[in-house]
Amino acid sequence: MNLAGGLPDPATYPAEELADIAARAVRDHGPEVLGYSRIDGLPALRDRLAARFSDAHVQLTRENVLVTTAGMQALDLVGKVLLEPSGRITAHSPTYLGAIDAWKPYRPQYRPFTPDGSEDYNQVFSGAQFVYTVPNFSNPSGRLVDVDQRRTMVEAAHLTGTWLVEDDPYGGLYYEGEPLPRLLSLSGERQGPVGNNPYRGPVIYTGTLSKEVAPGLRIGWVIAAPEMIAAMVMAKQGSDMCTSGLTQRIALMAMEAGLAERMQPRILALYRERRDALCQALSDHLAASFTWQKPQGGMFVWAVARDPDLDTDALMRVGLEEGVCITPSSVFDVTGRNHGAMRINFTFNSPERIVEGIKRLAKAVARLSSK
Ligand SMILES: Cc1ncc(COP(=O)(O)O)c(C=O)c1O
Repeated sequence: MNLAGGLPDPATYPAEELADIAARAVRDHGPEVLGYSRIDGLPALRDRLAARFSDAHVQLTRENVLVTTAGMQALDLVGKVLLEPSGRITAHSPTYLGAIDAWKPYRPQYRPFTPDGSEDYNQVFSGAQFVYTVPNFSNPSGRLVDVDQRRTMVEAAHLTGTWLVEDDPYGGLYYEGEPLPRLLSLSGERQGPVGNNPYRGPVIYTGTLSKEVAPGLRIGWVIAAPEMIAAMVMAKQGSDMCTSGLTQRIALMAMEAGLAERMQPRILALYRERRDALCQALSDHLAASFTWQKPQGGMFVWAVARDPDLDTDALMRVGLEEGVCITPSSVFDVTGRNHGAMRINFTFNSPERIVEGIKRLAKAVARLSSK
C-alpha cells in the first residue's frame, strides 16, 4: 500500500485525448516536433504561458518565460544559475526532497524557515543566494501560506534584493476556497502599474503540467525577470539542449483545447473525497499517536507524532513489514534530524485502500510502541 509517493492517480491521465493530440502533433507539425526545439521553448507555448500567468498586477511577455523539462529542471536551473559552492539557501521547512536533491551537488548551507510570521523575513532572507518556498499546499507539509505572509515575504525579497523561488505544482489543487494570489502577482503589484513591462522583480515562479495533466509529459516552466530567463537559457543549453519539441507541441495543443480545465472538476472531486477518507481514517485509527491538520488542497497530510520518542524512520520499516509505506520526516529535513513526523499521500489510492493502509499503519505503530 503505497502512501509514500507524490503521485497523481494514473486513472486521471487523459490517455485518449493525448493519443489524439500526439498523432495530430506529429502529422501536422512533423519537422518541428521531430527536430531540435528552441532552447527557450516553443514561442507559441511561451506566449500562452505568459498570458496564463498575467493578471491585473503583472503583465508578462514571452521574455519572462522559459519552458523546462518539468518542474524538476526548473529547480535544477535555479541551482545552476544562482548557487555558488557552499552558498546559502533560505528554505521553506520542511523542504521538498527533490529540491534538496537538485541542490546537493553545491553543498549549500541551509537556513530553514517556516512562513508563518514567527521570524523577521528581512533578517532570514538577507545574505541568501535565494529563498525557496512552496506557498500552495507545500510538499511535504500540505500547508497553505496565508496572504499576509505572502505579502511580507515578497516585501522582504524586494527590500533585501533576494531572489524568491515560488515553486507551485499544487496551485491547481484547491479543494476549498478561492486560490490565493501568487507571490509573482504580489511582486508585480509592488513593481507598480502594469504598464511597467516586462516583469523585473525578484520572484522566480516555477510550474508544471505534472499534477494538472500528466507527469509523463515532462513539461514545466519558469516565469521570471528577462535577465534570469536569459541566464537559465544558457544553463539549459548545457543541460538538455531543449525540452522535447513533441511534448511541448502536445502541451500547447492540450492548452488550446482546454484539456486541464475540463479535467479539473473531476480531479478535484476525486482527490477531495480521498483527502476526507484519509483524515477520517487517521481520526479513527491514529488520533492517539499523531496530530495533523486537514489540508485545503494538494496531495499530502503531514502527521506529527505525539510521542517525541516515536521515530518515523523506524515506523516506515515496521510499516513495510505490515505492507504499507509512508515517507518519514527525516528526508525533508536538510539536517536529517527530524524523526517525529511523516508525509502521507492521499491522491494515488482509492478511499478503500487508504483506509486499509492506515489500519496497517496503526498496527505498525502498536508494534513499535510495544518494543
Ligand atoms: C514541490 C514540488 N516541486 C517540484 C516538483 C517537480 O515535479 P515535476 O518535475 O514532475 O514537474 C514536485 C513533484 O512532486 C513537487 O512536489
